[in-house]
Amino acid sequence: MRLLITGVSGLLGVNLAWEALQAGHQVVGATGSRPLWGTPFAVVQTDLTADGAVEALWEQTRPEAVIHTAALANLEACEQHPDIARRLNAEVPGRLAALAAQQGVPMIHISTDAVFDGQRGNYSEDDPPHPLSTYARTKLAGERAVAEAYPQAIVARVNFFGWSLSGKRSLAEWFLNNLQDGRPMRGFTNVFFCPLLANHLARLLLEALAKDLHGLYHFTSPACLSKFAFGIALAKTFGYDHTLIRPSTVEEAGLTARRGHNLTLRSDKLTAALGHSLPTWEDGLAEFHSLYRRGYPAHIRRWAQTPRTPLR
Ligand SMILES: NC(=O)c1ccc[n+]([C@@H]2O[C@H](COP(=O)([O-])OP(=O)(O)OC[C@H]3O[C@@H](n4cnc5c(N)ncnc54)[C@H](OP(=O)(O)O)[C@@H]3O)[C@@H](O)[C@H]2O)c1
Repeated sequence: MRLLITGVSGLLGVNLAWEALQAGHQVVGATGSRPLWGTPFAVVQTDLTADGAVEALWEQTRPEAVIHTAALANLEACEQHPDIARRLNAEVPGRLAALAAQQGVPMIHISTDAVFDGQRGNYSEDDPPHPLSTYARTKLAGERAVAEAYPQAIVARVNFFGWSLSGKRSLAEWFLNNLQDGRPMRGFTNVFFCPLLANHLARLLLEALAKDLHGLYHFTSPACLSKFAFGIALAKTFGYDHTLIRPSTVEEAGLTARRGHNLTLRSDKLTAALGHSLPTWEDGLAEFHSLYRRGYPAHIRRWAQTPRTPLR
């Protein structure tokens, strides 16, 4: 299957490309501002918010399936640039879904647990969303645009961690970088989530495509925990001093974008549809460590490095 992955330079996109290649798919990846080099898949660089860019990308790549991960996914950046957030997170998904619908091409659109306000937690797909930030509002608008243009598409609400091209993108990498340098850091005790390892999430997304699922699903770990507890578990997995992580609250961090406290989601609809249990965050941490020992982060990061100019 020729699979188009938008946001292939991002945290989810790069791990998804890796997993799709392992599964024998042909991958075409779209990046935004970051070029990639020496990738075992084709790369197209395009600003998806530019006029006609989505249509041009479609024409150029002619995909047999598409997983749309590209987004402005930084909550603070969305508050600073609401117009870019609206165009990229809300409008681009609808345009891509319209093309996929016209051609009958299977599509997964990646959304977020942040569509909920986090007052209650344990949300199912039937619970009404209530976004708190520009990021969350624009992501919810994107979900709705996709569902309207292409009801057969899968809308996947996710939360994940993993190895990124920059080495700094995911929460796990942030904890790890501080732990490695012996720097004390704070972990939120009052924010709860259900993260999957990006590689596990990628495999579930590919499985959902193969099973021809449709509609809204929560792709999250069946077990959940606080961000503080996640940091402690990560430190223990890698053998670092976990006392460097101090308990703190999200309110103490002085962030601009409003964040929900309990963004735990139920994933039983996906479990039933796939017919097997989902990996947990604990499985994810074990695999995250195993990938590290096998040199995976260094391997994918080579794709983000400018090739050396040969000496003359
Ligand atoms: N990270 C999380 O914990 C999390 C949690 C819940 C949901 N999500 C959702 O998961 C998806 C993937 O998130 P992520 O963390 O992997 O994102 P990320 O690391 O921030 O990467 C974003 C990707 O989007 C691309 N992009 C940004 N602006 C673009 C533009 N104008 N045109 C084309 N491409 C553009 C970026 O390309 P360049 O870097 O090359 O510009 C990059 O490849 C998003 O839909 C996000 O909302 C993420």
